[in-house]
Amino acid sequence: MKNHLDAKFILLWLVLMVTSRNVTASSTVRHAQMTIDLTAKNSSSSTQRAAGKKRQLRKPDVIYYPTPPETVAEMLRMANLKKGDVLYDLGSGDGRIPIAAAKEYGIRAVGIEIDPKLVSEAEEIARQVGVSQLVHFRNEDMFHINLREATVVTLYLSEKLNVLLRPKLLNELRPGSRILSHDFRMGDWKPEQTVRVPWGKLYRTVYLWTVPQRSRVMPRRRTEGSGLKSRRRSFAGSSQTTSNRIQRQLLRG
Ligand SMILES: C[S@@+](CC[C@H](N)C(=O)[O-])C[C@H]1O[C@@H](n2cnc3c(N)ncnc32)[C@H](O)[C@@H]1O
Repeated sequence: MKNHLDAKFILLWLVLMVTSRNVTASSTVRHAQMTIDLTAKNSSSSTQRAAGKKRQLRKPDVIYYPTPPETVAEMLRMANLKKGDVLYDLGSGDGRIPIAAAKEYGIRAVGIEIDPKLVSEAEEIARQVGVSQLVHFRNEDMFHINLREATVVTLYLSEKLNVLLRPKLLNELRPGSRILSHDFRMGDWKPEQTVRVPWGKLYRTVYLWTVPQRSRVMPRRRTEGSGLKSRRRSFAGSSQTTSNRIQRQLLRG
């Protein structure tokens, strides 16, 4: 009986050891390639504690899959970042893009992420890298935030989500703001730059768009009223309407 119990205990211990090794190994692999050493020390328990305070809003529109470090670097290079820029990463995952922007370019950056655990993980990494004063992570749905203060937006989502976000991006971002998307285009809006980044034997693609002057995207029609307010409304609908429409489309799938 005792031998039987001992064997059970040893088996349980082995399973626990293997599982915890796998967790450590996979998070190390995920972070090891980053230009900055983002390996989280003692992060899991504090991450889980902090995540408890945040809420799961709804299911993510796409699953978490990180951008490789070389592609992050290329996205930031193409964004032509300068002092005063504010970068928003929509669906920021472990926060690698905003963190790299703050660390490498000294600009303010915001990550919007629906998964509270990832928000906590990103906050922990930002603390370890020493950029917490420049980077801010928000546990929010990207369709329900205001992008007014952003001058650069980064995306790694899907073509469908990019297309759904497009009216919001054009409505809320100021002309001259840059939009960078990893691997996904934005419907029929032709990118002004396309760069391939080597990734093993394959490559990743980064697309760049610049938000044009409003009149160049949708010229005012004679029948529309005058003044900025009416022009903005005719451009892509009010934020609320756009957001509601996006939600309806997402629900329809
Ligand atoms: C493919 S990952 C990209 C992560 C990061 N931007 C990167 O490039 O490494 C997409 C992220 O978007 C998040 N996400 C999905 N739907 C979202 C939504 N509606 N609002 C905010 N974040 C969302 C997912 O949880 C996931 O972390």
